[in-house]
Amino acid sequence: MSKIRLGVNIDHVATVRNARGEIYPSPERAALLAQKSGADSITIHLREDRRHINDLDLKRIKKILKIPLNLEMACTLEMFKIAKKTKPDFVCIVPEKRKEVTTEGGLNLDINKSYLKKVVTSLKKNGSRVSLFVEPSKLAILKASNLGANCIEIHTGKICNLINKGKSYKVELKKIKKNSEYAEKLGLYVHAGHGLTYKSAKILSKIKSISELNIGHFLIGESIFFGLKNVIRNFRKIIKR
Ligand code: PXP
Repeated sequence: MSKIRLGVNIDHVATVRNARGEIYPSPERAALLAQKSGADSITIHLREDRRHINDLDLKRIKKILKIPLNLEMACTLEMFKIAKKTKPDFVCIVPEKRKEVTTEGGLNLDINKSYLKKVVTSLKKNGSRVSLFVEPSKLAILKASNLGANCIEIHTGKICNLINKGKSYKVELKKIKKNSEYAEKLGLYVHAGHGLTYKSAKILSKIKSISELNIGHFLIGESIFFGLKNVIRNFRKIIKR
C-alpha cells in the first residue's frame, strides 16, 4: 500500500496572530517547522476577506518552502490572478461564503462551469496541480473529472461530525470509500480533508484510494498542548499504512 501524504494546514496560526493584530505567531515559522517535522505539503487558504492568511504570508511561505505549497482558494478572478502569479505547486478550489465559519461543503460544479473549466485548465498550464473540493458523490466526482481536475479533495466534515459525536459512521465511510475508488478509476488523485482528528484521520487513512489528508484546525489546536512537531509526528504514525 502506498504512503499516504500529510498536508498540514496552518491557517489558524494566522487566526491567532490576527486576533491581536500582531506579527506573531508567524505562519512562516509554522510552515518551516511543519516541513521539518514531516509534513508532505503546507496548505493555506487565502480567503477573500483575508481573515487568516494574507497576501504577504502567501508570498513569503511560497518563497521559503522546499515541500509543495497547496493554495486553497475560491474560484474568483482575484484569486485566479493571484494563483497565476504565485504559481503554487498545488491549488485546491473550494467554495467560499463570507458568513461561514469554515468551508461548509463541497463545490457546486454546475455554477460557473465554463469559468471553472477555464481556471482549472489555465492553472494546470501554469504548473499547478489542481484539485476540486467536493462531496463524496459520484456525480460530483464525474463532473470534476470532466472539468479536467488532476485531483479531488473529498469533504470529510460529515463523517468527522458523526465520529466526534460517537454516532454510527459506517454508511458515510462506505460512501467515501466507494467514491474514492471511483475517482481513482477515473484517473484522479484522491485527497480528503475537513474536520479531521487523530481518530477520523486513522479511520480514513485505511482507504487506500486516498493518497493525501489535509488537516488544520485540530492539528493546530493540539499543538497548543503538545507542540507542532509532536502533533505532526503523531499524525504521521497514526496514518501510516
Ligand atoms: N481541506 C480543505 C479543502 C479545506 O477547506 C479545509 C479547511 O480550510 C481543510 C482541508 C482543513 O480542515 P480543518 O481545518 O477542519 O482540518
